[in-house]
Amino acid sequence: MNLLAVSKLNVRFQTPEGEVAAVSDLSFTLASGASIGIVGESGSGKTQTAYALMGLLAKNGRASGEVIYDSVNLLTLSEAELNRRRGAEIAMIYQDPMTSLNPYLTVGDQLTEVLQFHKAMDKRAAFAESVRMLDAVRIADATKRMSLYPHEFSGGMRQRVVIAMALLCRPKLLIADEPTTALDVTVQAQILALLQDLRREFSTSIILITHDLGVVAGVCDSVLVMYAGRVMEYGDAQNVFHDAAHPYTRGLLHAVPRLDRAHADAGAIAVGSRLNTIPGNPPNLLALPSGCPFVPRCIDRSSACLTTPKLEDFAQGRQRACHRLVNELTDLDAPHGTTK
Ligand SMILES: Nc1ncnc2c1ncn2[C@@H]1O[C@H](COP(=O)(O)OP(=O)(O)OP(=O)(O)O)[C@@H](O)[C@H]1O
Ligand SMILES: [Mg+2]
Repeated sequence: MNLLAVSKLNVRFQTPEGEVAAVSDLSFTLASGASIGIVGESGSGKTQTAYALMGLLAKNGRASGEVIYDSVNLLTLSEAELNRRRGAEIAMIYQDPMTSLNPYLTVGDQLTEVLQFHKAMDKRAAFAESVRMLDAVRIADATKRMSLYPHEFSGGMRQRVVIAMALLCRPKLLIADEPTTALDVTVQAQILALLQDLRREFSTSIILITHDLGVVAGVCDSVLVMYAGRVMEYGDAQNVFHDAAHPYTRGLLHAVPRLDRAHADAGAIAVGSRLNTIPGNPPNLLALPSGCPFVPRCIDRSSACLTTPKLEDFAQGRQRACHRLVNELTDLDAPHGTTK
């Protein structure tokens, strides 16, 4: 059963320079207990998509379309109704780790506060449950660590605390926005493995936002590849990772080391530093040209691309927005980037 059904989500910001089209016609569904990755370069609309779902857009932003969660369109809820769901049913791990924890309160106080607020637990029960959750995210000596302040934890341990806090009320949906970006590679792999374990343990659905398709392939069932606020490609995460069907997705994959090649011996989820990037820059969202937004950077462009390609099914469970046939696309992994 679908936990979440997003349909034609649009996010627009009013600015003195004009209207910014941050997210355009984004649709996807997420089954109970399933996970989806949202991937794209900086500025492609990943975080604003998450904020729209959470009702957290900046004041100059507006979301339209439908976000059906539990048979209710979240976009129509009042602030009070949203507040009740946020943190309890839908939790988010924010991109900036500094925003999640209060440096002046002990970790224990912050965790117990969440349960007292959302679950009306008394202090004692909230304390016990918080310790249980710190155990669940594999923090040793949890009882002792409840009295520590955030700065007394290492980066990786702090991120475990943030995850514990997000999962404290057993949310049905967890949105994790770049949860491992600030961490070193080994710790990244540990945190991703932990998220996987917790998803099974608590049957939480996950939306994982990241720059790295390799991470998504290791963690998620499906993936949405975004560019300039639009979905370029959608499908099973493994299929997209191993057989990308959009020039943009191929460009992204080419820009990161791949587990099945360079890191074949590493045995870990593909996490690694960026080797190179797609030449050129994402477009100005204030003045999107008509046609495919990726055209100026696309090595497979043709005159057809001046009209906007629709996101269409092209194989079982897969969609893409591109005029070229898949077998016409340049194979970036071939020695000289030849077509197949
Ligand atoms: N309040 C705002 N007013 C105007 N534009 C905004 C506002 N907030 C975000 N944007 C624009 O929306 C676009 C999408 O931003 P978003 O934060 O979703 O990017 P992202 O994909 O999460 O990027 P990153 O990987 O860098 O986190 C960006 O161009 C950003 O400048
Ligand atoms: Mg972001």
